[in-house]
Amino acid sequence: MAAKIIDGKAIANKVHADSRRAVEELKTRGITPGLAVVLVGDDPASRAYVRSKDKMCRELGLHSVKHELPAATTQQELIALVEKLNADPAIHGILVQSPPPAHIDERAVIEAIDPRKDVDGFHPVNVAKLALGDRDGFVPCTPLGCQKLLVESAVETAGAHIVVLGRSMIVGKPLALLLMQKGRGGDATVTVAHSRTRNIAEVTRSADILIAAIGRAEFVQAEHVREGAVVIDVGINRVDDPILDRGYRLTGDVDFANVAAKCAAITPVPGGVGPMTIAMLIANTIKACRQLHGLESETAWD
Ligand code: GUN
Repeated sequence: MAAKIIDGKAIANKVHADSRRAVEELKTRGITPGLAVVLVGDDPASRAYVRSKDKMCRELGLHSVKHELPAATTQQELIALVEKLNADPAIHGILVQSPPPAHIDERAVIEAIDPRKDVDGFHPVNVAKLALGDRDGFVPCTPLGCQKLLVESAVETAGAHIVVLGRSMIVGKPLALLLMQKGRGGDATVTVAHSRTRNIAEVTRSADILIAAIGRAEFVQAEHVREGAVVIDVGINRVDDPILDRGYRLTGDVDFANVAAKCAAITPVPGGVGPMTIAMLIANTIKACRQLHGLESETAWD
């Protein structure tokens, strides 16, 4: 069976088209949604993400501010910047790129962000809102993007057994909460498996939909996947490849060739979940902007 390739770029472009229209509509009211992205240190992958977020915001007409701070930035300096952005009326969304350097207490930085501007959905207020099912909160962008991919690809989640592989606060945990919510893109029976799960292949093979977010290159092999399952690959791993000029290749958490031969549909890496994360970040920023201006907001996850 040849798997259907779920085209994250094409679906992200649809989300961007909606965002562009929403930004234009806000501009007719004299409002421009603004996003501030903060990067501490010079991790090349993080730098590349931050630049692509900034570029996409500008393309869609948002006000975009990028703060690239040296690795030696102190906790105090970083929190002072967050507080300045909290108070800036031109900024509706704040994202501090994770992970920060080791001397920074990431939790304290996240808690310094005004939850109404926390478009990453990492603040405890927004984590609680997701758990409670309050739809005015912010859901982390990668889980939101995974759900949107399933909805737009007409993959039924209601009643499906979804196995989420990975339990991070950025992907696994919020994704499990999101998929078990009532409503479109939810109503799933969710299992979270992780590095300490016993008989992991047995667990993942019972999935109708398998979402790999374990951060290990090509961890998911054909033996982990049931024939006809849908596979979403959240991983982006750099693997040394001396044949390539840049010295590495990007690969997901799934062994694409072997798994694609067995499953019904699969996301590629790159070009699957990656573009969706930025699309949902921009959708969250527009939602924050509308809420801060007291306007009705369509939730980004409906
Ligand atoms: N690092 C990897 N993914 C993310 C994300 O969605 N948000 C932030 N802030 N950092 C990340």
